[in-house]
Amino acid sequence: MDTSLFQLEGKSALVVGGGQGMGEATARLLAQVGCGVAVADIKGGSAERVAAEVADMGQPSAPIVGDVLDDDQVPRIVERAEAALGGLDVLVATVGQASFAPLVDMKPEQWDRDQHFNLRYFFLIAREAARSMIARGTPGAMTCVSSVAGLQSAPNHASYGVAKAGLVNLVRSMAVEWAPHHIRVNAIAPGSIATPRIPATPERQERTREGLIPTKRLGTVDEVAKAALFLVSDLASYVTGTTLAVGGGWMAASILGVPSVPDGGKLDATAGLT
Ligand SMILES: NC(=O)c1ccc[n+]([C@@H]2O[C@H](COP(=O)([O-])OP(=O)(O)OC[C@H]3O[C@@H](n4cnc5c(N)ncnc54)[C@H](O)[C@@H]3O)[C@@H](O)[C@H]2O)c1
Repeated sequence: MDTSLFQLEGKSALVVGGGQGMGEATARLLAQVGCGVAVADIKGGSAERVAAEVADMGQPSAPIVGDVLDDDQVPRIVERAEAALGGLDVLVATVGQASFAPLVDMKPEQWDRDQHFNLRYFFLIAREAARSMIARGTPGAMTCVSSVAGLQSAPNHASYGVAKAGLVNLVRSMAVEWAPHHIRVNAIAPGSIATPRIPATPERQERTREGLIPTKRLGTVDEVAKAALFLVSDLASYVTGTTLAVGGGWMAASILGVPSVPDGGKLDATAGLT
């Protein structure tokens, strides 16, 4: 195999949410294969730490402190990444967070926040990145992070699931509209992943072993990062508009893979649904 297919030497990436978790792992992996990385995060210290690690690997890097939920900041985040790295070839967007509430009790504010936090911001930042790539006439690749919750439903998980399902269709639309500009857009749908925010507590690991995820274990942020690298590299040169499940077989198990929901809808983000 031509191993240069997954090398990104001389390319520039913006990783949004790159200060922690899947974004951090992806920023590091992209740097390992030769890519310059701008690390955007609302937490300045995290962005600086990960950008410094990228620099230690010998790659161009820049920390960018910004809030992707502030529409005015979104174009500035893309502009600063381009200015720091001299262009933009890759966008990886990992910001997002699960919430839980029965539909009958759900407040419109929660619904709106989930759509913004998981879906709307990606539309805005991918639009900015695409405008830049189109203006420069350079090809590009983008990946956002959806969820298995966007591919199937679960009790008390509707607003998050709808937002993540929105990403599944949004990447299709972007892929179709931007293919003439040689821009590919895909999504990753992680299953249950151990992250700093949702760690692999003994209880969570036990629940995973007892549950119906075929591989009987949590995934790692590095396993999500490897999927991101695949999708933004030339290994995936003919892949666009698709959502890649990274869930240890969760989707293969279909509805049976959904962990049972405790009574009263008191499910929280540590309960395995994400
Ligand atoms: N952990 C799981 O099991 C799981 C499963 C499926 C999907 N997901 C999805 O994976 C994605 C990444 O999850 P994670 O656990 O790595 O996330 P995380 O919360 O650990 O990291 C997200 C990063 O984004 C940053 N961030 C948050 N709000 C921001 C904002 N407004 N502007 C800029 N940066 C902001 C945070 O500071 C953090 O560094 C999310 O979209 C989540 O919904 C997670």
